Amino acid sequence: MQQTMAFVERVRRSGAHYQQLSLAISPSLKNIQPGHSFLTPGRNPSFEPYLLERWWPIHCAENQLVVECPFPYDSPLRPYEPGEALTLLGPVGQPLPFQKKLRHALLIAEDCPPHPLRLAIDRLLARKASITLVLLGSAAQYDRRSLDPRVEISLGAPREDDPRHWPEQVLSVGWADQVFITTAAEGQRARFAIWLRRFGELRNGVPPKYLWGLFTPTWPCGAGACGACEIATIDGLKSTCRQGPALDLTRCRLEEA
Ligand code: FES
Repeated sequence: MQQTMAFVERVRRSGAHYQQLSLAISPSLKNIQPGHSFLTPGRNPSFEPYLLERWWPIHCAENQLVVECPFPYDSPLRPYEPGEALTLLGPVGQPLPFQKKLRHALLIAEDCPPHPLRLAIDRLLARKASITLVLLGSAAQYDRRSLDPRVEISLGAPREDDPRHWPEQVLSVGWADQVFITTAAEGQRARFAIWLRRFGELRNGVPPKYLWGLFTPTWPCGAGACGACEIATIDGLKSTCRQGPALDLTRCRLEEA
């Protein structure tokens, strides 16, 4: 993980709650992959408070990164403006482990913006993969105008006994070569346990390397040093900041306290 400076080149409002920042970045960051994120103190170069913001790249081109961060309409902070300089720490994490022959990808966001999946959409479309993006719970409020029109978007259609239902669920699960799920950080392990059971029922078993959960707890260090973000797996403890964020849900010990 390295520390670099980024410069705000353009700012765009994205829906009611977010602003998109186009950042000029160091050429040393040119290999950003889906799954990578950055930690930043934002406007506070003294790194106080200690917990840093996490930004997910939503687009990345040579020397330029686009991120989406909250628009501070209900805080005393002012929105970012072109010309500002920011500190970035990263990239944090490992690239998402796409299969070589991935043709149909199912991406799911549950109760959170789909930011951790946005760069995956760019890269999978470039590989001519078809993508279904399912937005469940509060994710359905996400402003979808900046999403590529080639992405098939499904909104949740919760049922009384099933808040995770969406139309054509059986079809999209049956077609998917691989699935990546991002959820709100609260209760994430329990959420992924439910998803693992759900896919087991829908597919009559979940093969290895098929169903990936993006673990996104708070990352105090982002460097695998503090142990705050570890998840128990069949292969031992994994730091989600260093070995994640994507972990194979069939290898995770999700039911343990
Ligand atoms: S945030 Fe410290 S080990 Fe992951």
